[in-house]
Amino acid sequence: MSDDKLPVAHDAAEGHGEAAVAENPFADPGLPPHEPRRTDIDERAAKRAERQVSLLFLVSMLATVGFIASYVSIDSDKIVYIFPLGHISALNFALGMTLGVALFCIGAGAVHWARTLMSDVELPAERHAIEADDETRADVIQQFKTGAAESGFGRRKMIRNTMIGSMALVPLSGVMLLRDLGPLPEKKLDRTDWNEATSDAPIRLVNMNTNEPMKPEDIVVGSLTFAKPGPSASRPAGLQESDEDFQEAIAKDALMLIRIQPNDIKDADSRDLGFEGVLAYSKICTHVGCPISLYEQQTHHALCPCHQSTFDLSDGARVIFGPAGHPLPQLKITTDASGYLVATGGFKHPVGPSFWERSE
Ligand code: FES
Repeated sequence: MSDDKLPVAHDAAEGHGEAAVAENPFADPGLPPHEPRRTDIDERAAKRAERQVSLLFLVSMLATVGFIASYVSIDSDKIVYIFPLGHISALNFALGMTLGVALFCIGAGAVHWARTLMSDVELPAERHAIEADDETRADVIQQFKTGAAESGFGRRKMIRNTMIGSMALVPLSGVMLLRDLGPLPEKKLDRTDWNEATSDAPIRLVNMNTNEPMKPEDIVVGSLTFAKPGPSASRPAGLQESDEDFQEAIAKDALMLIRIQPNDIKDADSRDLGFEGVLAYSKICTHVGCPISLYEQQTHHALCPCHQSTFDLSDGARVIFGPAGHPLPQLKITTDASGYLVATGGFKHPVGPSFWERSE
């Protein structure tokens, strides 16, 4: 390699770079001399840059406010034509644009600040063993303090305040989106259609497949039958698939009916809630709410297919295996004057997933 191909040496501190290269072509060529920027030598230019950075942070704040305003004021069904995107949701477009501008301005402001106002003097750092000695650590702390002072974070209050403001507002966009999780369920999870039943106005148990009310003799020992609420004051035709809230209602109302010889029922309370060995349990697993559909008639075990929680229906639906945290709630049943199975009240415990805070 000829000498004219070798790198030109610079040594900002001592100016001995060329000599070092001449002696050793692999020597550190050093750093080029520092070129001061306009903002380093012209206080008016520095002030102008400071205003530009602050303006970017201010625009970010306004965009975040625009995001929140769009979220609460634009109808989610509204469609607009935006060239070249075509017909799109006005809400999605507004949220995307405002959030994009808010984040872009924070980034652009930070970059512009670093490029124009923070110190750009490069400092060579020698490589040493990984563990630094006390002197080096003290040196690093000192350099950090110097860097913090040179960044102007403390001195340039306008930039500092607008940056803090823009970064404090941006997370509000995420907080607003929490509203999309929907309204709090409040007491809705504690109540089912069976709560409407009273001893004066009982609700019949209706076979989920045939839509017919059931008598105890329809439930044979060893069988598993599913039931739903029959006619009531609020649902004169009983729960029907055509009901607007059918999915929500059946997810809480569904019953699992079994019949066990009364002497085989281990739990006395459970026996009392049933009628001549017919027991009505919630079909909804108390783990995360899968519908239970497997029943082992010899052992009286019901198995949830999702995560294998197993309930002993002869013992108050006690959990004998799996992740479910509570027994299946049981509905008190009896018969009406015509001999049909009826409920005279709601479940004693909330149905469904037990991870939800239970109110009892
Ligand atoms: S939902 Fe039943 S075990 Fe998980």
